[in-house]
Amino acid sequence: MNHSRAYHLPVMLQETREHLAPKSGETMLDATLGGGGHSEMLAQNLRPGGTLIGMDRDADALTEAAKRLEPYRDNVDIILLCAAFGKMESTLFARPATATRLFDGILFDLGVSSHQLDTERGFTFRRNEPLNMLMSRDDTEQTAAELLASANETEIARIIWEYGEERFSRRIAAAIVARRQRGEPLQTTGELAELVERTVPRAAWPKDIHPATRTFQGIRIAVNDELGQLESGLTAAIGRLGPGGRLAVLTYHSLEDRIVKRLFAEAAGRAPGAPGSSPAAWLPSATRTPELTLLTRKPVLPSEAEISRNPRARSAKLRAAVRNS
Ligand SMILES: C[S@@+](CC[C@H](N)C(=O)[O-])C[C@H]1O[C@@H](n2cnc3c(N)ncnc32)[C@H](O)[C@@H]1O
Repeated sequence: MNHSRAYHLPVMLQETREHLAPKSGETMLDATLGGGGHSEMLAQNLRPGGTLIGMDRDADALTEAAKRLEPYRDNVDIILLCAAFGKMESTLFARPATATRLFDGILFDLGVSSHQLDTERGFTFRRNEPLNMLMSRDDTEQTAAELLASANETEIARIIWEYGEERFSRRIAAAIVARRQRGEPLQTTGELAELVERTVPRAAWPKDIHPATRTFQGIRIAVNDELGQLESGLTAAIGRLGPGGRLAVLTYHSLEDRIVKRLFAEAAGRAPGAPGSSPAAWLPSATRTPELTLLTRKPVLPSEAEISRNPRARSAKLRAAVRNS
């Protein structure tokens, strides 16, 4: 396996290409560069004469993607930016080359890369590592250990409940706070996993996942403000699409997909009706031309073949839309 493949295997690459439909001379933005797998596909299709702007909050991703994209630089204008996509608008605005640019395509491939899971960032309970959980390499940002050492019990319970959908959130939060009150704040993934195992009654352990999976997910989402980032990044992206510009978003859990579905529906002039009403009953807004037309009514899912090749594709969902004018 070459180094780029080891860094991260791009998910639903063909499906993403079909929905973004990159063509030579166009300008596209990859808001989540990672190992540059999707960006390489974009660069191949934007040449000659196209422009590719890549963004990631993790400096490792920029280093890796820069190497992978090097062979395309003669034929495609490539600009890589280390930034969180939640600050997309100010990041693009700060540079003359990108300040007012509109895009023919924008991609979000959310979540973490295999590289981030495999390096010591504390995302997984499978290894004992410092409880960091930051996607970025910015050491001024608050780590998971710092969050759990300072947030109050109600806030910790809310995070684990809302972002992890863990029904024992209150008990887990109480155990975290009791531990730090004993002067032993959580420092490692092993300590957090063990605390959850001890706190959730064994009879209530989920059958198919580790009992700490949901707690880890909740804390990771909070530490990286993943849902806030998605809300502002996607809103900015819709505003940065030129007429006919395509937007594609790959999500990996239902909290993300719900936000994408809602923002797409709003921009397409389709607000969900009264609770319980079917999507067929959604009414187009009569007051203005919708910004987007949906390209996917239902999310596109990875093929069985892809899932067996790459189990990390298992939970992926792709939604896409096109900008009207
Ligand atoms: C699933 S990986 C992307 C993989 C990439 N498409 C590829 O083919 O290699 C997700 C990437 O998005 C980045 N990311 C996640 N949230 C971000 C945010 N709010 N702003 C910028 N980058 C983000 C992560 O750092 C990670 O590198």
